[in-house]
Amino acid sequence: MPGQRADVKELKARLDMISIISRYVTLVKSGTGYKAKCPFHKDDTPSMTVSAEKGLWHCFGCGEGGDVIGFVMKIERLSFIEVVRRLAEEVGLSFEAADDGARDELKSLMADVANAFARNLRSDAGEKARDYLISRGYPESCWLKYGLGYAMPGWDHIKRTFSRRGEDVLLKLGLLVQGDKGTYDRFRDRTIFPILDLSGRPVGFGGRTFDGDPKYLNSPQTPLFDKGRLMYGISWARDRMSETRAAVLVEGYTDVLSLHQAGITHAVGSMGTSLTQGQADLLKRFVEDVVICYDQDAAGSAASLRGMQILYNSGLGVRVAQLPAGEDPDGYVRTHGAEAMQAILDEALPFHRFFIESLKARHDVTTIRGKEHLLEDAREFYGSVRSAALREEIDRQIADLIGLSVESVRRELPRRPRARDPEEPIHEPAMHWGVEEHLLALVLRGQISWEKIAFEVSADDFSEANRPIARRLASGMTDLSELIGDLDEEGARRASYYALAPLEIDVDQTIEDAKRWMGQLPAIEKRLKELDPMIKRSATAEDWELWDRLAREKAELRIAWRRAKDATGEGIHEQQSQEGRSEIEAS
Ligand code: UTP
Ligand code: MN
Repeated sequence: MPGQRADVKELKARLDMISIISRYVTLVKSGTGYKAKCPFHKDDTPSMTVSAEKGLWHCFGCGEGGDVIGFVMKIERLSFIEVVRRLAEEVGLSFEAADDGARDELKSLMADVANAFARNLRSDAGEKARDYLISRGYPESCWLKYGLGYAMPGWDHIKRTFSRRGEDVLLKLGLLVQGDKGTYDRFRDRTIFPILDLSGRPVGFGGRTFDGDPKYLNSPQTPLFDKGRLMYGISWARDRMSETRAAVLVEGYTDVLSLHQAGITHAVGSMGTSLTQGQADLLKRFVEDVVICYDQDAAGSAASLRGMQILYNSGLGVRVAQLPAGEDPDGYVRTHGAEAMQAILDEALPFHRFFIESLKARHDVTTIRGKEHLLEDAREFYGSVRSAALREEIDRQIADLIGLSVESVRRELPRRPRARDPEEPIHEPAMHWGVEEHLLALVLRGQISWEKIAFEVSADDFSEANRPIARRLASGMTDLSELIGDLDEEGARRASYYALAPLEIDVDQTIEDAKRWMGQLPAIEKRLKELDPMIKRSATAEDWELWDRLAREKAELRIAWRRAKDATGEGIHEQQSQEGRSEIEAS
């Protein structure tokens, strides 16, 4: 079996997960697995579960989870490759791509591939991509600078062009995909955004569709490409970042490009909303301050709050810029210009003020219930704030906000959530148990096979957050540890949660619900995403009739979304009313 996966699989099979994890935490036997106090957040009760049988760990307190390699990466703050090398050495395996000569060769192959994509862009076949780039405000003059390219529509353009280098190595670099009947090109008929390392060499690619979902396809984890430790645009931004000791953090490829085009050249992209510790560590080498400028749809979401906490707890100054609802930096800078964008960045709120503002927006502080909910909401964030000075400041501001004395807020806030029965199902803030989650949990636990439900649902019926897991299950990936290894951090977190959460799931009920409800979510989410800018435009145009109709549609869709999401089970609705909100508000 070619490729890196096979080797990692072998490595994991040889590792003693329990003994490795117990180097860092005290494990206590519990049922068929182990429990420990989680090292990744302040944990009073043992909320981390480790299952050697499944090769997974998960913390039900903070939501972290994954396989043994992920655990060591997180606790030692090492990259995937570094951990694999280190653990391989322990068990006497030599891990390929270990020496720098080999890495260098891989990088020069990636550079050749990037050049091929760039050539395609200028070929006859590249017309569509050229038009697309120009229409988005990226004229020919900047294609070379950003290495932009085009992947041909066929199944084997890269495969044929680079056949002399060997399929093995192309697979290893994530350029080919292994299918049932052989290998084929991963990137087909897409506009290509190369992802460069610090010194400006391509190590991965993001490919954008012209239409369809998901919008972007990225290189998988490879010996060169570790998304959790790279930032899009870092090589172009590093000088300006060092100079100003500040960075602007955005989500997407196009956000970075448009800001750079507008002269805001210390912008880097997290490539999605879930910022990782590795990315924070990377930024920390260059800057002291970070201005987060995420898409306005996502700014209040749990994932981006988590990113802010990571940055803050890494010792970086964090401010949050707020775009108008429904906008992203790319769209904003193109319609309003560089100066307006700069003004938005200048007005960014300090992290804690942003947090208070988002509390204010989420809760009605004129009612007692609203005040209670606000405190409840603040508690989780508060628990992760390490700075005493900042905690005092938050106490004061919240006291002001809800009209309580600072003393009572202080008494309220540090209180941890009530102690839980370890066997009681726990629902995390950013997670949500509905039909999809039950379905995935059943398959991940081996209680049903994907084939059993494949007639009723397809991976595309799942909402965005769960789709990567569903895709892999649908593609026949049944090995849990392989699956986890193939997902990004957020995906691994979810999969380990679904596989390990102590929860009784009614198989028949879940399948019933799936038949009835699945497939609606993506359409609802898509429409919701469209609605926000439309509502905003109608307000600007003072077309109140239209505004009213759209706002009503949005409210109805939210209810439908809730219903489709919640369809399974008893007694979880109560939890969900709180959790689902952050997700739906992200749309
Ligand atoms: P967005 O969905 O905000 O896309 O995702 P965008 O950057 O605005 O895309 P354009 O402007 O329509 O082309 C933000 C980032 O999240 C990652 C990509 O890095 C993207 O730039 N992403 C998004 C993916 O990796 N896959 C996806 O399917 C979507
Ligand atoms: Mn965007």
